[in-house]
Amino acid sequence: MSITNYIERYRKNKRTLFTTPSHGQGDFVAPGTAKMLGHRFFSCDYSEIEGFDNLSNPRGIIKTAQDTAADIYGAKSTFFLTNGSTSGIIAAMYSTLKRGDKVVIARNCHKSVYNGLVLTGAVPIWLMPEYNEEWGIFESINIDALEEIFLKNKDAKAFIMTNPTYEGAMSDIYRISAVCRKYNILLIVDEAHGALWNFNKSLGTPSLIQGADIVVQSLHKTAGALNPSALLHISKEASVNPKLVQQALNLITTTSPSYSLLVNIEETINFLSSAKGQLYLQEHIKSVNRLIRTLRSIPNLQVYNYNNDVTKILIKVTNMSGYELSDILFDRYGIEDEMANEKSVLLLTGIGTTRTKLKKLEKDLIDLCSNNIKISQETYTTDRHFTPVEPRVRYIPSVLWGKMSKEVELKFSLARVCMELIADYPPGAPILLPGEVIKKEHIEYLLSTNRTSIRVLI
Ligand SMILES: Cc1ncc(COP(=O)(O)O)c(C=O)c1O
Repeated sequence: MSITNYIERYRKNKRTLFTTPSHGQGDFVAPGTAKMLGHRFFSCDYSEIEGFDNLSNPRGIIKTAQDTAADIYGAKSTFFLTNGSTSGIIAAMYSTLKRGDKVVIARNCHKSVYNGLVLTGAVPIWLMPEYNEEWGIFESINIDALEEIFLKNKDAKAFIMTNPTYEGAMSDIYRISAVCRKYNILLIVDEAHGALWNFNKSLGTPSLIQGADIVVQSLHKTAGALNPSALLHISKEASVNPKLVQQALNLITTTSPSYSLLVNIEETINFLSSAKGQLYLQEHIKSVNRLIRTLRSIPNLQVYNYNNDVTKILIKVTNMSGYELSDILFDRYGIEDEMANEKSVLLLTGIGTTRTKLKKLEKDLIDLCSNNIKISQETYTTDRHFTPVEPRVRYIPSVLWGKMSKEVELKFSLARVCMELIADYPPGAPILLPGEVIKKEHIEYLLSTNRTSIRVLI
């Protein structure tokens, strides 16, 4: 029986619960919360009581729901995550890497990978993905560069990469997984931004189908589920033990997962995999493609279009930095983007993005470009310039954890060991990590962001 059906049936039994959660499925809701959320939201929020299942050792309704999902995604095992892709990435690392194991990591990884390094004690070997200066974004993984790293590190245990990137750029996972197999290296793909791919081929081919061993997807980013619902899939071909993944998840996940979230995960997958859901998604993709065609016809406006997921609309305007464009969109048109960099702005769409919103974006971008709207130069500086720098690792993250640090002025930090995770968030890819040597380029970039100091190792 599905989680939803079970809860519906359970409600009819009218049991008298003396258990957590103490809101009693909405008998008590703090007035301010009730005003914001109503009572109904609480009605599915049970604990793991008699007859319900246990997320840390599923045997009943959660197991059935996860097995059904695994069939839909074509996985050996699928795990429901109530703590985001963050928990999936850490669990993927914890279940496959031991202290001292080498792991190759694409540098545009999310910061949860760093947290995984602290916890596992694995040794990172960084790989720089290709960088597109024109758009200010990382793009695909260069297969030759990857193979070169594998040749130098034949004892590496895993490769962790993001696909698609935050901005929607894709890598060739078929070829990457073949190279990984050749060197007996496990492929872990952070597909946090590709959760719709399984339900419409035109968006991208899921990494699981292309040969990845473990894939993590956020259902909340583009697939319309509540924050922070996500999935971890193990491929049928992978030599990964699902029991170890479960143990790793249990280390970092709450023992009180909300059934409201679990229902939402189950129902999101049910809808997306249904004929109705796929039609709904298809309509969204058509609307986005229509918008992109119109945007392409606007003079001075460019839309990123190089092997990418179209639902992430990356744009730039001639002679305007991404930061300036972002500020104009916000201040003049009330549009909040997902991310801006020095060159471009990312407008994220997903299954819940209405046509009305897309129309507004179209109208406002036409207005912005045809009226040549600018920000007054007195209040605006655009000298922020980031170029990715090869990291020089002095200490691995797990060794540095808990060591003493102090704040120093940036201008005196050259060649010191950084003790902070420095990333522009979003996209959250590290610029400097604890244990890495601070270079001239880091200092120049951080000064341009108006920072004046940095924590260093004493
Ligand atoms: C590429 C990437 N991976 C992982 C995550 C973490 O996902 P979650 O918010 O589901 O924990 C993010 C979040 O921004 C991300 O951008």
